[in-house]
Amino acid sequence: MFQEAFKLSDIAGGGMKAAKIDGREIAVCNYDGKFYAIDNRCSHMNGSLETGTLDGYILTCPLHYAQFDITTGEVLSGPEKTFNLKTYPVQVERDSIKIDV
Ligand code: FES
Repeated sequence: MFQEAFKLSDIAGGGMKAAKIDGREIAVCNYDGKFYAIDNRCSHMNGSLETGTLDGYILTCPLHYAQFDITTGEVLSGPEKTFNLKTYPVQVERDSIKIDV
């Protein structure tokens, strides 16, 4: 079920913010005007990805710099034992960004 995470105006182009939905922390990213939702906790050692950097579709963890593709959740680089992250469907309805957790 889709639930509102943010208003469209909450996340500028190239920006991201984390929301807690159904007990999960999810980072919502604005890449080129399109929104993507991915687990906010790094699969390496739990770093909070919303405090990392977003460069295009590449999200970099602030702790040990693992990099993830926000469109697929795939690990692009990083320390050993870093796993792909889960991504979530996003729907934009009027001025709401909704996530299906
Ligand atoms: S916690 Fe993210 S790279 Fe280590």
